[in-house]
Amino acid sequence: MKLTPKQIEVVNCVRNDDPKILLLSGAKRAGKTHVAILLFLSHIAQYYGEGLSFIIGGATHASIRRNILNDTETIIGKELKLDKTNAVEIFGNKVYVFDGANADSWKKVRGFTAAGAFLNEGTALHDSFVKEVISRCSYKGARIIIDTNPENPAHTVKKDYIDKDGQRLSNGRLNIKAFHFTLYDNVFLDPEYVESIIASTPSGMFTDRDINGLWVAPEGVIYKDFNRNKHFISKGQIPTSRIEKYFCGVDWGYDHPGAIVVVGMDDEGRLYLVEEHAERHQEIDYWVDVAKGIKARYGNINFYCDSARPEHVIRFRREGLRAINADKAVISGIEEIGRLFKRDSLFVVDEAKRFEEEIYLYVWNEKTGEPIKLWDDVLDALRYAIYTHLKPKARRTG
Ligand SMILES: Nc1ncnc2c1ncn2[C@@H]1O[C@H](COP(=O)(O)OP(=O)(O)OP(=O)(O)O)[C@@H](O)[C@H]1O
Ligand SMILES: [Mg+2]
Repeated sequence: MKLTPKQIEVVNCVRNDDPKILLLSGAKRAGKTHVAILLFLSHIAQYYGEGLSFIIGGATHASIRRNILNDTETIIGKELKLDKTNAVEIFGNKVYVFDGANADSWKKVRGFTAAGAFLNEGTALHDSFVKEVISRCSYKGARIIIDTNPENPAHTVKKDYIDKDGQRLSNGRLNIKAFHFTLYDNVFLDPEYVESIIASTPSGMFTDRDINGLWVAPEGVIYKDFNRNKHFISKGQIPTSRIEKYFCGVDWGYDHPGAIVVVGMDDEGRLYLVEEHAERHQEIDYWVDVAKGIKARYGNINFYCDSARPEHVIRFRREGLRAINADKAVISGIEEIGRLFKRDSLFVVDEAKRFEEEIYLYVWNEKTGEPIKLWDDVLDALRYAIYTHLKPKARRTG
């Protein structure tokens, strides 16, 4: 079986230094899970036929199936069907599968004695689950393998394990060994694919984490790839005749401005914010009028709405407007908008004054890893519109 140089480095370390806890953190698609599965299988094989217990932990049963069991089946050439106890037999041992994302997940592994564990996507697991699994691996020679993408440097996976890289037990055994992966470490990826990923990953935090595999806090302006010289266009520059589809995003507000934006998509998938409506201290009747005006100009198009005010969404529907609850996943939505600016595929009409104010004031809160909610009204409306509209397509291709 061929391995990348980085994976060989990890395998050699396991062979020579025998770490109890092995952490593989870094970029997406870097080859972490692949080598983690191989090492976990070879660890189980060392106890061939002994009927011991092992643990696989992941965020959900679906993610464990997708990320681990499917590839494991290919490697060992055997179908892995979970039995009633959520276990599979591998090399004459029992491997128990647990979902570990919730605060009470740890209770499921109470009382266990395991000879090893593989925890996939460590930062998606609850800290108490990670710690319980590690304490359950009490059998002699047990090994815990954790793979993960990086997150905030304050995350417990980073603070409690990665930062203790090199720690030894009193008997001299290496307790913790951490490896850092970048996208470039996976030499088996098609160079064209790597290039396209780099070209479409937003600058700043997303590039630092997803490409370079670094544990960085987000900082500064959120949409770092917005460039007013390229992305602001005059009304006359909008290629109206090529626009095939219009849709809207709606962010309700009263003390903060409420906002409706109209977005057009052209025949090559480029997007244009063509109309911005942002007003403070307006009641729902006002917004119904604005939306009806949009419907009169563009037809019966979708309004992707902030679901925080269901009574407003219902009112829109009663008025004959196609109001749909938006997908409000913050980080994924920001990543999508950031990707569009990076690829020069999103343009904004220069009449959008509130957008112009917000775009440079929309900044990360370094502590929470979320945006500071002060200057986000038009930007939220834009995110709801585009992320919700593009998502079904992303699902089909991804
Ligand atoms: N040694 C290898 N030989 C062949 N294919 C490999 C090898 N290592 C990794 N791959 C393939 O590269 C892709 C990415 O690898 P993998 O899933 O291990 O990355 P990852 O670091 O876990 O990524 P993510 O953070 O997105 O989960 C997968 O399709 C995997 O099968
Ligand atoms: Mg993985």
